[in-house]
Amino acid sequence: MSLDQPAARQSDHPVAPQFLQRWSPRSFTDRALSEAEVMSLLEAARWAPSASNHQPWRFVWARRGEAVFEALHACLTGNNLTWAGKGAALVVVASKDTVTNREGAEVANRTAGFDTGAAWMSLALQAQTMGLFAHAMGGFDREKLAAAVRLPEGHTLHCVVAVGEQGPAEALPEDLAAREKPSSRKPVAEIAMHGRF
Ligand SMILES: Cc1cc2nc3c(=O)[nH]c(=O)nc-3n(C[C@H](O)[C@H](O)[C@H](O)COP(=O)(O)O)c2cc1C
Repeated sequence: MSLDQPAARQSDHPVAPQFLQRWSPRSFTDRALSEAEVMSLLEAARWAPSASNHQPWRFVWARRGEAVFEALHACLTGNNLTWAGKGAALVVVASKDTVTNREGAEVANRTAGFDTGAAWMSLALQAQTMGLFAHAMGGFDREKLAAAVRLPEGHTLHCVVAVGEQGPAEALPEDLAAREKPSSRKPVAEIAMHGRF
């Protein structure tokens, strides 16, 4: 499908194009994802770096048309309920809170969230190489989602990611269609300091 793409993002400094081309649209086409394609997304996430290679990330996935997809979708809140059901797949991103130390005790994994964030970005960039887009959502009912995925004790839910082929903005309700464009960023000078804050 050819879409009227908004003006391309501009970087302050030279950067590989994938970083500017990834964004989070809300409109998806009817294109389905095969199970093999979902596995490719998860494979990319699998290879993310993590402290001591603990790999704390955990994923629960479902494809549109499956009853489990509907169950995950029903846990979303606000506008997410309106658009994310058109996604070809939903991926719940969670992490295990603890690791086993040398003495065999379960201790907090302080970097679990950080590591899992890297894994989600790997998934998003893999989606991009497959001609797809991934849109993370923190807007979900935590208790309902925990019950839906049977979240084990000692695990944390981070977000639900909708993945699919980008659709036309016009397919969205008017208010969401108006927001269907890549956002900008703070300048590097505002977020990075030389040597100290
Ligand atoms: C952890 C997380 C939670 C988010 N929650 C939502 C959400 O609930 N609904 C939504 O539409 N977008 C959500 N987003 C998307 C962000 O708004 C989006 O990534 C941000 O505005 C930057 O835009 P971009 O991804 O298009 O570059 C979330 C993103 C992240 C990483």
